[in-house]
Amino acid sequence: MAETLTVNLGERSYPITFGADPADGVSPLLQSLGQAGRRFAVITDQNVATLQAAVLQRLFGGAPTYAVPAGEGSKSVAELGRVLEFLAEQGLGRSGAVFAVGGGVIGDLAGFAAASYLRGVDYYQVPTTLLAMVDSSVGGKTGINLAAGKNLAGAFHQPRAVCIATDFLPLLPPREFAAGMAEVIKTALLGHPLLFADLERSALRPGDPRLAGVVRACCGLKAGLVEADEREVAEQGGRALLNLGHTFGHAVEQVTGYGAYLHGEAVAIGLAAAVRLSRRLGLVGDAEVRRVESVVANHVLPIRLRTPLAVPELMAAMARDKKVRAGALRFIVLESLGAAAVRGAVPAADVEAVWREVGAA
Ligand SMILES: NC(=O)c1ccc[n+]([C@@H]2O[C@H](COP(=O)([O-])OP(=O)(O)OC[C@H]3O[C@@H](n4cnc5c(N)ncnc54)[C@H](O)[C@@H]3O)[C@@H](O)[C@H]2O)c1
Repeated sequence: MAETLTVNLGERSYPITFGADPADGVSPLLQSLGQAGRRFAVITDQNVATLQAAVLQRLFGGAPTYAVPAGEGSKSVAELGRVLEFLAEQGLGRSGAVFAVGGGVIGDLAGFAAASYLRGVDYYQVPTTLLAMVDSSVGGKTGINLAAGKNLAGAFHQPRAVCIATDFLPLLPPREFAAGMAEVIKTALLGHPLLFADLERSALRPGDPRLAGVVRACCGLKAGLVEADEREVAEQGGRALLNLGHTFGHAVEQVTGYGAYLHGEAVAIGLAAAVRLSRRLGLVGDAEVRRVESVVANHVLPIRLRTPLAVPELMAAMARDKKVRAGALRFIVLESLGAAAVRGAVPAADVEAVWREVGAA
């Protein structure tokens, strides 16, 4: 029997189920869709379709399935178009539903397709990467990238349920596991000091018995922030805190063309940058910078750019980031290791200096 956590959003509330076997969460959903005579389609990527073929067959049988090429490149206008055409070809009606089975790329892409197809149909998140389990599958942010920047087109569209199953993880490549740990470390830093201390005591590796508890803790913290500030409008203390490290990270992803760094790797460098910016602003000291960087590095993640990127290009990418309000640079900073805050009007010179500290030229 899967354990459940509810994301409380009034009529948009939904359960997150936690278990080992994905059937525990997914089968009851399919049963109730079937009883109501509702059809559904599965959106996944080609890696998941191949590696998890037996699981997909067991869960969804011969349901219409569309597999996009794996990777960040599929969060594109072109791929969104293909997913929408697929849903239409299947004749999915307003009562139809979409299952997003994959990592954050699939959740964001299929979620956006579900938000826009017939002006919105139900969808369900079945995350298969650590990153998607601890972060992207919860909260209803969906979207794709544009040439001008990351996640620049999208919608808030909450899933009807999230089914987390750790049985998906053993086939996840180590580099992808590490990328997921970047979001875990982020979550610990912004609001879970005990989790940070635990990760500091010993790094979490694939197969670690602590993993299921860590996934639940991250979902719990994210659910609380989403409940308090579903559309990220709070000036302080809301959902924006989840962007810790992301303004820097998104700039790295954009300048390198979405491929050289996994999202989680860019976020890892972003966390190093965020703690360094916090030190420049006088919020934390050298010890905190060392501690954050060693936890990130101990989880096999980068804390410096692998090759120098140009500071002006990174600054220009940041200026296009949708978190920039009215032209002012706004950052999530650390007040301590386990507490974050939004800081506006950060001097550009400080940000440029931080870029150089993490290896930009
Ligand atoms: N919506 C949100 O709130 C939110 C939050 C954080 C990140 N994101 C987005 O999430 C994306 C990154 O997600 P990701 O890291 O999961 O990337 P991803 O979806 O590209 O998955 C990573 C890789 O792992 C493979 N894979 C997936 N499941 C697997 C499994 N069980 N076994 C083996 N291989 C598997 C995929 O095919 C892919 O190659 C980014 O686009 C980021 O912007 C969104």
